[in-house]
Amino acid sequence: MLKDIPCGEVTEDHVGSSITLAGWVHRRRLHGGVVFIDLRDRSGLVQLVFNPDTSPTACQVAEQVRTEWVVQVKGLVRRRPEGSENPTLSTGAVEVAVDEAVVLNQSLTPPFYINEESDVDESLRLKYRYLDLRRPTMQANIQLRHKVVKYIRDFLDTKGFLEIETPILIKSTPEGARDYLVPSRLQPGEFYALPQSPQQLKQLLMVAGMERYFQIARCFRDEDLRADRQPEFTQLDLEMSFVDEEDVLSLTEELYLTMMRTLVPGRNVPGPMPRLTYDEAMARYASDKPDLRFGLEMSDVSDLAAQTDFNVFRAVLNSGGIVKGFAVPGGGSYSNSALRELEDFVKERGARGLAHVRLGAEHSLDDLTESDVRMASGLNMHPQWAAQLARQMGAGPGDLMLLMAGAPHAIHPALSALREEMGHRLGLADPNTLAFAFVVDFPLFEWDAEEERWNSSHHPFTAPDDDQIHLLDGNDLGSIKSRAYDLVCNGSELASGSIRIHRRELQEKVLRLLGYEDSDIQERFGHLLEAFDYGAPPHGGIAPGIDRLVAILAHAGSIRDVIAFPKTQRGTDLLFGSPSPVSDAQLRELHLRVVE
Ligand code: AMO
Repeated sequence: MLKDIPCGEVTEDHVGSSITLAGWVHRRRLHGGVVFIDLRDRSGLVQLVFNPDTSPTACQVAEQVRTEWVVQVKGLVRRRPEGSENPTLSTGAVEVAVDEAVVLNQSLTPPFYINEESDVDESLRLKYRYLDLRRPTMQANIQLRHKVVKYIRDFLDTKGFLEIETPILIKSTPEGARDYLVPSRLQPGEFYALPQSPQQLKQLLMVAGMERYFQIARCFRDEDLRADRQPEFTQLDLEMSFVDEEDVLSLTEELYLTMMRTLVPGRNVPGPMPRLTYDEAMARYASDKPDLRFGLEMSDVSDLAAQTDFNVFRAVLNSGGIVKGFAVPGGGSYSNSALRELEDFVKERGARGLAHVRLGAEHSLDDLTESDVRMASGLNMHPQWAAQLARQMGAGPGDLMLLMAGAPHAIHPALSALREEMGHRLGLADPNTLAFAFVVDFPLFEWDAEEERWNSSHHPFTAPDDDQIHLLDGNDLGSIKSRAYDLVCNGSELASGSIRIHRRELQEKVLRLLGYEDSDIQERFGHLLEAFDYGAPPHGGIAPGIDRLVAILAHAGSIRDVIAFPKTQRGTDLLFGSPSPVSDAQLRELHLRVVE
């Protein structure tokens, strides 16, 4: 090794010994002829001192070097002079008096600061990712990711799981996104699809008698990208045989709770994890991934809305919609312009509008007067109505009530976004808390109004509730519950899974209800159906997204900050410049022609 120990591990124990270190010049200062350099490697920083009187040659080297040059030094570890210790550094009590210094490599001036946290344009960071990754926060994120994956591997090993790799060149495995296709050179005109997840493969491993499988699996999905979505991302994919929901959920809960205690012991992680049904989550939070760090719970106030002459409410209620909203503590004093801003916020998220009732703080709900109540124009109701509304919504004097009218599926996304926004604005979303919960009993199907067909809420391999299988023959498919579950945390979906169908007839029936023709079923899923004919055990599993978990643990705003080489929102890699054109010769080999 070109160094004896890592820079960040030089401590008082080394005082008096001569050591060799190597790393990058993090910062350099001159002080009365003496040169000070903070030398950095992955482990941290240590202060080097170059004295022109005692080591003139080393000092000459130190005078030449610039930030990010790579150097090797040899010197004596000594205690820092009293008063100059730096308690924020692990090495802050000591320094190294350098006798010999060698430049191992020079560096151009980096396009952004590596030694300070400044706001750098993300495309510049991604183009020079190898420099961006040198920054201490990114180093910490990548180290945390390693620890998460190592924890998972060790934990699952103790629970009897086998880590098994599955192919990347495979066939379409639908998870609701577009496939990435790879043309075959040897089979002209034919394509592999990259797996959207190893879903069918892990089910086949259960048929194969592996009983407990996991994989840190790369998944590929050509879909619209966002802060929490990458075209290729990583799942902890796991599957178990002879289990029901409880077995999968309790294993997942134990994995997450013990991992949090070990890796982020300072975070507040309430346990046991609450379990909400999908219906309850939608009713109380207008979301199937609610942020449970705060209340701001929803109330359906359609009955009170029906007593008003407000056109918007009446029209919605007459067409079978609802009026729903939540109370904002202390919001009674919000100005008209603040409310207009909230209305703009929900309109940007697809809502038609936002009604409100503001209560003054002067009187109790029993004594509300006309002057205590200010309502959205068009809502000309008596103070007693406002008091009743407040009781139903859990509001009190001085509070604001926000209301939206429409079909539930139409208003829920904007209501939920508004609830989260208010939770953050009111400082209720404690950044130190990780509020995990399971959402269970998802519907099996959801209606796609545009395409006029049923889609799987989770994926086509999810089992319906045992006692609702007969409903598959009826015409109320939307009411059938599935054996799917999600793990959510602070408003994010961290994992999804289900107990699977393991019998051919039921799988064929579900695929037909999803609109697949029999020939299609055979072509796309024949291999799985055939496997079910050979003694497929009951099985189920779950797939936690690793990127999202690490991002939450690292307080990162985007999963790009916890992936070494992520893609941009447009799916491009700015470092390699991919995707990129290929030569005509390559296209010919693949039997492809690019058409304009
Ligand atoms: P699902 O599609 O819900 O389920 O994915 C499971 C988890 O993977 C993460 N995830 C993503 N992370 C980053 N970028 C993406 N584009 C992305 N898409 C999904 C999320 C999500 O909760 N085969 C099933 C699982 C199963 O049934 O066992 C599946 O893939 O954290």
